[in-house]
Amino acid sequence: MTIQIKTLEQYQDAYKRSITDPAAFWAEIAESFTWKKKWDSIVKEDMITPNVRWFDGAKLNFTENCLDRHIEAQGDEIALLWEPNEVDDAVKSYTYKQLLSEVCKCANALKSLGIRKGDRVCFYMPMVPEVAIAMLACARIGAVHSVIFAGFSSNALAERIKDAHAKLVICTDYNRRGPKTIPVKDVVDDALEMGCDSIENVLVYKSTGENVAWGSKDLWWHELVDKQDAECLAEPMDAEDPLFILYTSGSTGKPKGVVHTTAGYMVYTCYTFLNVFQYQKGDVYWCTADVGWITGHSYLIYGPLLSGATTLMFEGVPGYPDIGRFWQIIDKHKVNQFYTAPTALRALMAVGWDEPDKYNFGSIKVLGSVGEPINEEAWRWYDTKIGHGKAPIIDTWWQTETGGIMISSLPGITDTKPCFAAYPLPGVQPVLVDQNGKVIYENQMEGLLCVKYPWPGMLRTTYGNHERCRTTYFAPYKGYYYTGDAAKRDEDGRYRIIGRVDDVINVSGHRIGTAEVEDAINEHPDIVESAVIGYPHDIKGQGIYAYVKITHEVADRESLKKEILDIVTKYIGPIAKPDIIQFVVQLPKTRSGKIMRRILRKIAEKQFDQIGDISTLINPESVEEIKSGAYI
Ligand code: WT7
Repeated sequence: MTIQIKTLEQYQDAYKRSITDPAAFWAEIAESFTWKKKWDSIVKEDMITPNVRWFDGAKLNFTENCLDRHIEAQGDEIALLWEPNEVDDAVKSYTYKQLLSEVCKCANALKSLGIRKGDRVCFYMPMVPEVAIAMLACARIGAVHSVIFAGFSSNALAERIKDAHAKLVICTDYNRRGPKTIPVKDVVDDALEMGCDSIENVLVYKSTGENVAWGSKDLWWHELVDKQDAECLAEPMDAEDPLFILYTSGSTGKPKGVVHTTAGYMVYTCYTFLNVFQYQKGDVYWCTADVGWITGHSYLIYGPLLSGATTLMFEGVPGYPDIGRFWQIIDKHKVNQFYTAPTALRALMAVGWDEPDKYNFGSIKVLGSVGEPINEEAWRWYDTKIGHGKAPIIDTWWQTETGGIMISSLPGITDTKPCFAAYPLPGVQPVLVDQNGKVIYENQMEGLLCVKYPWPGMLRTTYGNHERCRTTYFAPYKGYYYTGDAAKRDEDGRYRIIGRVDDVINVSGHRIGTAEVEDAINEHPDIVESAVIGYPHDIKGQGIYAYVKITHEVADRESLKKEILDIVTKYIGPIAKPDIIQFVVQLPKTRSGKIMRRILRKIAEKQFDQIGDISTLINPESVEEIKSGAYI
């Protein structure tokens, strides 16, 4: 495909053209896709309402672009490679032809269940090939998938099913994760008890074969999907028809259903995949992200398939059966591009600094990082131990809402620098603003990161609540998309991402809303109120610190802590469990009753000299109490 940039001059030229005439720039890229009907207009730029539209009037089917269009030239090449949890179990692979047949069978099965264009289908699935097959099957018939990370609790699952009014849940019986077998369908059953009335069926893929409870709505994948016809006409979709919903946490309220639409997301993920990873025909690409997050959507499944790549999916975890598993997989499959999260690197560094020395890594060409800032130590270790100093490290900054990578070096084309995501991709116009929305033109100054002009992969709305989308992302700084991150720009135009400035904690690259954790903790009858903040954590990047005020003296504080962890696990999932719980007499508050999180952050970081002015507090004594550890 000609949309791949190869030289620095080409990058500079592409960037310039993408800014001076974005419509012409993206139209040219869009030409290389399969359209049932071309667009009437390229872009509608309204970032105020907001009402952004790309390739309006066009008709297409997303899966024809992922699958059918590759069949002629590379139908027998491998699209999806699957490495199982157990080292000795058989690898599975699907050629583009085989994947298309499986997707069609699944699409026909969905149709037989009455799933139609526009219907929502929720997924609660581990890392098995069927998750990709079923996501593509939804897109084949125009159904909208909402994949929910299989580590979330039944409460969290139910909340998302209800918000989307989904008709179907697709899940497995169990999930094999390292040494554990985790019940999956049980969690779905529990969620359905919580008033998910819209659900008509549950389609269950048998992964381990252990016993599961069976109800009247339940259907086995192998009984329904396997007997279907292996052809299914691709539903013609409008460019702006929704492709999927993905729930993500924000600073307030319940998680939002970020909506991505068909044509723009397609063009953007394919373009960014080809350029950021410099994928070449025949390469094997591996992204370790779980399919429950946006990275799993855009760069485990969709970007690679749209590009005709071979993408590797791994069922298990990095430490099983031993701490060399990631490295063993890279050598086994001769992985050329490896994309992972700094938290995984830090965890592996901590337990096996020299473990990579046992492996060859001769195939590695590009190393990617995503999800949080990569600290210099992890960057250097990644560079020397895995890349042997020869593979560029790309630190890719983006978000669920951006659909695809926004800021990143291009390996072998632009330079890289530790701790810098570096350069905006063509089509991306970052701006830094101060608190008042004034644009910061000087370099080396910290500012709030915004984006000035629409790009094809951006979110279009938040499901069922467009106003929430407007107020969260478009109202804060008029005419811009607001990211919630702070950043700095250096003299050469490289961006360094500092981190979230809102009440969102980035735990191991996962976004956790502090309000959600507080709401869960506050459900406990012995608890009056709580304040949750993020603090620096060696492995996770940020850990969760909960300050908790209890109603009365409790005899056994350790059991109360345990109950708090249980309640968070119940309402959200184990990923949101606080690392530290501190009981307090009272929380520092302003006169208007707002909790001063800034102060709590400084106390958690033990930066007592930076607590600053506490005279605006209604209860300044709370600061000393908390520092001293008083709790009742
Ligand atoms: C937030 C988005 C996008 C995929 C994974 C996370 C942080 C993401 C980087 C990076 C520094 C990063 C930001 C962002 N983040 N990538 N390379 N350097 N920070 O998606 O759950 O939507 O989270 O992750 O704070 O806002 P997400």
